[in-house]
Amino acid sequence: MSPRPIIAPSILAADFARLGEEVRAVQAAGADWLHIDVMDGHFVPNITLGPDIVRALKPHASIPMDVHLMIDPVDPFLEAFVEAGADIVSVHPESGPHLNRTLKRIRQLGARAGVVFNPSTSPAVIEWMMDEVDLILVMSINPGFGGQSFMHSQLAKIETLRRMIDASGRDIVLEVDGGVTVETARLCVDAGATALVAGTAVFRGGPDAYAANIAALRG
Ligand code: DX5
Ligand code: ZN
Repeated sequence: MSPRPIIAPSILAADFARLGEEVRAVQAAGADWLHIDVMDGHFVPNITLGPDIVRALKPHASIPMDVHLMIDPVDPFLEAFVEAGADIVSVHPESGPHLNRTLKRIRQLGARAGVVFNPSTSPAVIEWMMDEVDLILVMSINPGFGGQSFMHSQLAKIETLRRMIDASGRDIVLEVDGGVTVETARLCVDAGATALVAGTAVFRGGPDAYAANIAALRG
């Protein structure tokens, strides 16, 4: 029996005109973390939000802010996001020339460091860096937009990364992002995931549905 996964609602699917209220609502509904998708229109074909929004939301959130950076270059902005209140900062290896240096910098700034795997990115990227990561995030879609369909091909990657984490003996969170529904959540947890990002599946139905949506994902 797998332990209950951490549920991290992605505010990308929230009502952007009422973000503070939305954050308080998902938190009251049982969210464990708040997932914040940062996109620059360059690394991914969409633009979302920056550190000022993270700072504005911080007083509304008592749960950890899980910031997923989809920006290139990423290094010049790490400090701004941690100062704004990011508790976890996750980066794509493709968004900077020296992943090891980037991860060390995130920790030095006082946040937990995460590495994000695009569907085409190999687990080998972190083979020599298991001591530097606190979180591994497997994308089960191509990053850029919510509401896409889960790529089942990524389940084998989750299993591989689960084995790598177990072999490391370290307590590294294994998170999955993209197309997570009640059905695909089970597949992810069975493959070894310990945290689930969900936008559409949490925010559908409006605030009255959030608690039931989160409970259903948790299983
Ligand atoms: C996409 C983002 C995801 C997205 C997930 O690039 O990283 O976090 O919000 O949305 P759903 O859960 O709707 O697939
Ligand atoms: Zn994300």
